Amino acid sequence: MKTYSIAAIPGDGIGCEVTAEAVRAVDTAAERFEFSVTWTEFPFGAEYYLKHGVGLPESAFRELADFDALLLGAVGDPRVKPGPLEQEILLALRFHFDQYINLRPASSFPGVPTPTAIPGDQALDVAVVRENTEDLYMGLGGAGKDSFRTDLAAKRGLYDLTGAVDLGFSTPTEAGFSLGLMTAKGIERVTRYAFNLARGREEAIVHAVSKANAVPHLYGFWDKHVGETAAREFPDMTLKFVNVDAACYLLARQPFDWGVVLCPNLFGDIVSDLLSALAGGLGLAAAGNIGDSLSMFEPVHGSAPDIAGQGRANPLAAILSAGLMLDHIGEKDAARAVERAVRDYLASGAEMPIELGGAASTEQAGQGVREQLRKAAAR
Ligand code: NAD
Ligand code: IPM
Ligand code: MN
Repeated sequence: MKTYSIAAIPGDGIGCEVTAEAVRAVDTAAERFEFSVTWTEFPFGAEYYLKHGVGLPESAFRELADFDALLLGAVGDPRVKPGPLEQEILLALRFHFDQYINLRPASSFPGVPTPTAIPGDQALDVAVVRENTEDLYMGLGGAGKDSFRTDLAAKRGLYDLTGAVDLGFSTPTEAGFSLGLMTAKGIERVTRYAFNLARGREEAIVHAVSKANAVPHLYGFWDKHVGETAAREFPDMTLKFVNVDAACYLLARQPFDWGVVLCPNLFGDIVSDLLSALAGGLGLAAAGNIGDSLSMFEPVHGSAPDIAGQGRANPLAAILSAGLMLDHIGEKDAARAVERAVRDYLASGAEMPIELGGAASTEQAGQGVREQLRKAAAR
């Protein structure tokens, strides 16, 4: 029997609650498809940070490297100011393991109302391909007063970057800045992934989200290299650029017109939350951070402190993310079965998750999916 070693970082808030259900769904799928999973849980999150003063110890990167995949819940806690947990855990993992693709599929589900009416002959079936290592997420920046110099450094799979920025103001003032940066190689690899994904979906069009009109140095550079990669490697396919503002407008009106949406890091973050609402809810939105070494699977949503500890979180996004993980490690049948079970649960007439207007707690919704997984095995 095949055995997989999978690491789990449940994290904070509802991250812990939904990860427990995702783990159970994977175990149920493993029973049915006759493979086994050994889980190793890591305690990283707010508690660990408050105790040790760091998001992750250096040793974690070495330890995690040996796993077949990583399942993450969410990090973020009201006791810690915005930034350190997200940067030192989530972003640090994405960057360290060079998980350059953030794949965020959004599709409508049976029985789940969508805010936009979807014509009977159409479907909402979008895949956001978000560049996951560059853009304004480089972490390059600083703040100072009047005239100041900031040294910059970043480490990525593709390069080590060093430099400095000198700023001076004619009138004394305090100022802060962040440097957005993209490289040709960084853009090429995510563009290639998006086009191959579209091809696999038997679609001839990729929409690339941009904002070259207002931020030409960064997003004009993005357009140039997305365009050149598409023309060189996918001459038979069509690339359409859309400014991010117009993209949000058009997506909200007619999301069923879209397929693969290629985004720079920041716009991809925003567009994927919008799409999750259009598809029915953040509690249904799954994601994979994919690279050539350790890949990490996590729901699109965060730790939701407003509902944490109440059993109100919808675990389906985490379960669907675990489904993406099963697909990634090669358990394709199990992956399909997990997605099917989520759909069957939603269509079954069973109590819906609280997020979707029902009364099913996190555990009850997880249980509902496992029942469908077992039922399908018996059929
Ligand atoms: P959030 O995604 O946690 O919550 C946004 C809203 O959606 C909240 O009203 C929440 O209750 C609701 N929601 C989210 N997931 C839900 C679910 N599964 N079921 C039902 N309702 C759900 O976004 P936020 O409030 O901006 O962030 C909270 C914290 O999470 C912050 O610290 C943020 O930095 C962090 N965060 C972490 C990740 C991650 O670790 N991957 C992602 C996003 C945000
Ligand atoms: C996400 C989150 C993260 C991001 C935050 C928590 C840093 O919003 O995974 O979508 O911006 O990528
Ligand atoms: Mn986000």
